[in-house]
Amino acid sequence: MNSKDQHVLICTFGKEVHEGLTAFPKYLSSKFFYDEEGDKLFQKIMELPEYYLTNAEFDIFQLHKTDILRSFNTNKDGFDLVELGAGDGKKTKVLLKELLEKKYPVTYHPIDISENAIDGLVKNLSKELPKLNVQGQIGEYFEVLDRLQHISDRKKVIMVLGSNIGNLLHPRAIQFLKKLNAVMHHDDLIFMGFDQKKHPQKVLDAYNDKSGVTAAFNKNVLARINKELGGNFDLDAFIHWEVYDPESGTAKSYLVSTKKQTVDIDCLELQVHFEAWESIHTEISQKYDDDTVKWLAEESGLYITESFSDENQYYKNYILKKLK
Ligand code: AVJ
Repeated sequence: MNSKDQHVLICTFGKEVHEGLTAFPKYLSSKFFYDEEGDKLFQKIMELPEYYLTNAEFDIFQLHKTDILRSFNTNKDGFDLVELGAGDGKKTKVLLKELLEKKYPVTYHPIDISENAIDGLVKNLSKELPKLNVQGQIGEYFEVLDRLQHISDRKKVIMVLGSNIGNLLHPRAIQFLKKLNAVMHHDDLIFMGFDQKKHPQKVLDAYNDKSGVTAAFNKNVLARINKELGGNFDLDAFIHWEVYDPESGTAKSYLVSTKKQTVDIDCLELQVHFEAWESIHTEISQKYDDDTVKWLAEESGLYITESFSDENQYYKNYILKKLK
């Protein structure tokens, strides 16, 4: 990331923190969890026994890799596999290995806003899968997708894994899918992971692990405000709180102030007052069913052609195509 991008990012952070902590009720966006420390904590979350999502998606890839690749329905010209928010690529590697073995002509384009993430992944792949054609792309999703449309006219498969779409409430998820639709050609498709509705306790446990990693992850946004904006949040004076509404399928994370307190954020010249037990809403992790995904797709000018599930039906990956 260049220093201008860095600057813009920090300013966005400050502006949105100001907005969220002066609003009623208070909120902070979950996109701010992910600095270096946040990335590490999320990595730890994915290894938690309670956080079933990662294993479920990994199982789907292992169980159905042949059918998944068949459903991409590519011709001999091959295709561009574009992954938005690539992370460590653990799940994607299952598909990539299969693609290499079956000699599919493919170029893998992992996209991430974090240069670190892309560098690490590209290095790792050049060691583990030296024959794979990889072109890492650093930048904002739609900016990169736009760029890709101009440099290649091959078929594109756009992957969004990890149920990352779950951080968006339905109206914003539709906006996101519409934007994907707008950069897709007729033949292109989306391969996207959606965590499914299940026993509410199972969902709650996944976002409220015994070892407290998720609590630390949630509080990391306060740690960031302290570090980057000169805040003096006392992290011990807040608790992590998770709720799940089985009707809407929305899991919500909060930080709850355990006492009446005032926090200073020097760089924003802001004093934030908390009543005892006042909350900051920090994240939503939406859970889905087939009807909801079908509805989201249709609202976005897309339709489901296929879906793949793990044995427990905890999680599904859907193939979405353009309606016309
Ligand atoms: C990366 C957004 C999919 O919502 O499940 C994990 C983030 N938050 N534990 C999710 C997260 C708390 C995760 N996503």
